[in-house]
Amino acid sequence: MNSEGNKMEKTATAEKIRLVDLDAQYQTIREEVWSAMKDVIENSSFVLGRHVKGFEGSFARFCNTRFATGVASGTDALVLALKALGIGPGDEVITVPNTAFPTAEAVTLSGANAVFADIKPETFNIDPAEVKKKITKKTRAIMPVHLYGQPAQMDELKELCQAHNLMLIEDAAQAHGAEYKGQRVGTIGNVACFSFYPSKNLGAYGDGGAVVTNDERIADKVRMLRNHGRHEKYCHEIEGYNSRLDALQAAILSVKLKYLDEWNEKRRQHAQHYDKLLSSVKNVTTPKVLDEVKSVYHVYAVRVKDRDLLRRKLKEENIDTGIHYPIPLHLQPALAYLGLGKGSFPKAEEAASEVLSLPLYPEMTNEQIETIVDALKQHVK
Ligand SMILES: Cc1ncc(COP(=O)(O)O)c(C=O)c1O
Repeated sequence: MNSEGNKMEKTATAEKIRLVDLDAQYQTIREEVWSAMKDVIENSSFVLGRHVKGFEGSFARFCNTRFATGVASGTDALVLALKALGIGPGDEVITVPNTAFPTAEAVTLSGANAVFADIKPETFNIDPAEVKKKITKKTRAIMPVHLYGQPAQMDELKELCQAHNLMLIEDAAQAHGAEYKGQRVGTIGNVACFSFYPSKNLGAYGDGGAVVTNDERIADKVRMLRNHGRHEKYCHEIEGYNSRLDALQAAILSVKLKYLDEWNEKRRQHAQHYDKLLSSVKNVTTPKVLDEVKSVYHVYAVRVKDRDLLRRKLKEENIDTGIHYPIPLHLQPALAYLGLGKGSFPKAEEAASEVLSLPLYPEMTNEQIETIVDALKQHVK
């Protein structure tokens, strides 16, 4: 097509706004990423080694924890943390139904049973009062998810754990750098699990995860479990897994970690801009963040009644949106055996039918946010 044709094409369709634009971020760190990858390859240090060790040290400092262990994914981080705590068959772990499937899948993979508690609709996070109702003699742990980057109500959950002798496992897959009462997530429970899935606030260029803790015994167990149950080559003390954080991913994550506070701050600024512009828009509920927490806005989710129609209209305007998550876990076919039908968790179910994630990533511009809000105003009923 000639340059005239190109021009026409550009004016005919507005530039697409993605939910997350990973390439925009890559362009800002491109040289550093390639140089880090080259270092791994030219030193043939592909498995564990200094890049993984270096990243683990930096990530522990970032979280303010004594230990961080890199593993193959966020799902594995949860499974290995559960195993390291000795949780398995016959045990119950309480978590939420409005999360990514791996939260509950990890519980099942450990051999334990997932038990769900409903959420607080304003924050979308686990409701401690509902958790209390679900505690039985078999309960071994509470596993809150810091959903969308906002920490759960950790003081109330900690109290329940202390009263009932339970472990507190933070699913911090969406909350790298988030704070609860001035404390970074990851330092509040016995152990915390992170995902480095590419679109996370700290995302690898493939899969990755980490388990952080201040407890040396838990850290040591996770370290063994991720590497075939050994400390030393050829001596396997327990049966474990191959779930090591890939060295190339560790090198990339080390580059990205240096920018994470800055990127999280930009996410917060974008969220504030959305909040302000949307405050006067009828029938759109903006996300509520509690005074005592600092969210890292992994997702900016609003609530709207006619969600699916609005989503289609925004798509026609070249604006991508997401739904986190459309099907609560108790209604997933894979968990039908739990026998929990519709109506079991009304608040989570209502949220699932109304949440709409708007584009949010550090590199987006105020103008893009304004375009999205203008389109929303036009189409929301
Ligand atoms: C809340 C939550 N928990 C666990 C996971 C699992 O992480 P991964 O995809 O790295 O296995 C994810 C990511 O999808 C998540 O969002």
